[in-house]
Amino acid sequence: MAGKEDLHKPLQLKGVKKLFKKGLKEKKEALKGVSLQIERGEIFGLLGPNGAGKSTLVKIALGLIIPSEGEVLLNGHNPSKPQAKKGVGYLPEHFRPPSRLTPETFMAFAGEMGSLSDNPLSPTDALTLVGLERSAWSRQMRRLSKGMLQRVGLASVLVHRPSFIILDEPLSGLDPIGRHDVKELLMQFNAQGGTIFLNSHILADIGNLCHRVGILHQGSLLFVGKIEELLAKTGRAQLEEAFLAMVKGEKDA
Ligand SMILES: Nc1ncnc2c1ncn2[C@@H]1O[C@H](COP(=O)(O)OP(=O)(O)O)[C@@H](O)[C@H]1O
Ligand SMILES: [Mg+2]
Repeated sequence: MAGKEDLHKPLQLKGVKKLFKKGLKEKKEALKGVSLQIERGEIFGLLGPNGAGKSTLVKIALGLIIPSEGEVLLNGHNPSKPQAKKGVGYLPEHFRPPSRLTPETFMAFAGEMGSLSDNPLSPTDALTLVGLERSAWSRQMRRLSKGMLQRVGLASVLVHRPSFIILDEPLSGLDPIGRHDVKELLMQFNAQGGTIFLNSHILADIGNLCHRVGILHQGSLLFVGKIEELLAKTGRAQLEEAFLAMVKGEKDA
């Protein structure tokens, strides 16, 4: 259904700051004025070392945390409004489904929850879509590998047929085959018109997946653009070197 939501950018942040209070006097500025726009149909990767503020940014985008300053629009609405989250799927950083449920049972709940979609996929279709092997469907989730659990997590997001998915470190903890498979799945979702915003501290996974990247370091966005532009700007041949040059402040080769 092409609704009004399509007229809006999936996500817009303007001058977003977040100050966490730690104890009585100590404060931590996790985001220091971040402005960013996600375009419909793109795969955007937010890169940054641990502690850069990536998860904080994602939670602000979804209205789970209120920014100290700045503006956030999700599908053109304040993220606290129900219509902002329509068609939006979220996979948190540490997805831990109930360990004694099986993927089949869990998916039956996931499809019902949140009423994000009027027309969710069936649990079976969602598990097939993410390529979870059939023998794992009826096994308790405490007996599944990290890669299998990540597929269940993605199934629980895709079951609602979202048009925009926000994934916090979707590839971390996966072995090379798991990473490859999840990337394929994300590209397939994107090829069908879906927009993706993902966070990662693993550079190797981003290069051939994301159309644009952002580099977040100590709460500041140092770069937003295509990887070629990042390489040109830093005068490096590889994403990893360009990233290091950026976060170390060596902008010239
Ligand atoms: N609820 C919180 N209270 C205090 N500090 C926090 C909180 N959440 C995150 N932080 C701090 O904010 C910074 C950014 O954290 P986070 O967004 O989780 O980074 P990343 O996801 O990039 O690893 C870190 O220094 C972290 O310790
Ligand atoms: Mg994080």
